[in-house]
Amino acid sequence: MKTRVFTAETLDQAAALLRQGKVVAFPTETVYGLGAIATNQAAVLKVFQAKGRPSDNPLIVHVADVSTVQESVETFPPMAQALADAFWPGPLTMILQAKPGRYAPALSAGLATVSFRMPDHPLTLELIRKTGVPLVGPSANRSTKPSPTKVAHVLADMDGVIAGVVEGGTTKVGVESTVVDLTNPAGPTILRPGVITKEALESVIGPLVEQVQTTAGTFEAPKAPGMKYRHYAPSTPVVAVEGSAQFWQAQVAAARKAGQRIAVLATDQYCQAVAEHVQESYMQGTTGDVAAMNHTLFDGLRTLDRDTIDVMFVEAIPDIGAGAAYMNRLTKAASEVVREATLE
Ligand code: TXA
Ligand code: MG
Repeated sequence: MKTRVFTAETLDQAAALLRQGKVVAFPTETVYGLGAIATNQAAVLKVFQAKGRPSDNPLIVHVADVSTVQESVETFPPMAQALADAFWPGPLTMILQAKPGRYAPALSAGLATVSFRMPDHPLTLELIRKTGVPLVGPSANRSTKPSPTKVAHVLADMDGVIAGVVEGGTTKVGVESTVVDLTNPAGPTILRPGVITKEALESVIGPLVEQVQTTAGTFEAPKAPGMKYRHYAPSTPVVAVEGSAQFWQAQVAAARKAGQRIAVLATDQYCQAVAEHVQESYMQGTTGDVAAMNHTLFDGLRTLDRDTIDVMFVEAIPDIGAGAAYMNRLTKAASEVVREATLE
């Protein structure tokens, strides 16, 4: 199959392929998604197949208007309306109680819920309208790989496998949407952190509940099935590092002494601190700019994933605010997190 690249001028052709049950990737403000019409079981199964995604991991339904969601669910709670008003179109996914039989069974992976999101990208909102049916949209990477933030990433994983991709530039946010479960009887719960933070959600709907703690004191298995899988990982081993410039230098020196070829993905001061000892470096912006780090994380992981590199050192940051989204991805990609003792 030849994978075609569509633009604003050829969006009608992309919509026509989708209506025929073909898979076409689309841009969003977070990452590129792998699109297929959400009502067509055969089309949805092609998406699972193209990604190599386990069948127990459900897909998000992407809509261009709130009324599509209201019609598709048993109840549309006031909280959902408040969140849609505040954050849609935008990087927020809401899990709601599904009306049975609306969408292809495969997309719910056996759950009684469906997740919805209205992406903030003009081409994709237009594509959904032209197609006339909501689209599933898991991140358009092969399962386990970093999510794609540009068309080149989509083609690296999917060229020849899918019918097409809509060119929409580099994605603005760079990490996937915040997933919030509104069906938990105990209260709304974040299942996947994103740049719409816990604090931002609470300012609209009041307190969220943490994922439940069992009597044994351990955390219950996360309810977003996707969270249990290895994810976001390049082939090259990733070590996450949090500490001072001196601590970075010590890590790099030890790896060098062990004969390893090193790449570094970090903000300016850490890149500079280790520059003379590494084979490759990718600068994530100015130290402290979490938005820039989210924006470049996946591109950095893909760019530095080379045969000529033995280990990638990637900057870790505090797990707060939008840093929670970043660390959620980084700790899944990394085989190890090393922190300077004074930070423990
Ligand atoms: O930003 C995004 O959300 C991107 C863009 C393309 O929209 N999409 C995306 O989809 O990240 P995906 O499939 O890679 O991640 C969706 C996550 C998975 O962890 C999945 O298990 C969870 O959301 N999820 C989806 N539907 C769910 C449901 N009904 N119940 C629980 N978790 C659900
Ligand atoms: Mg994904």
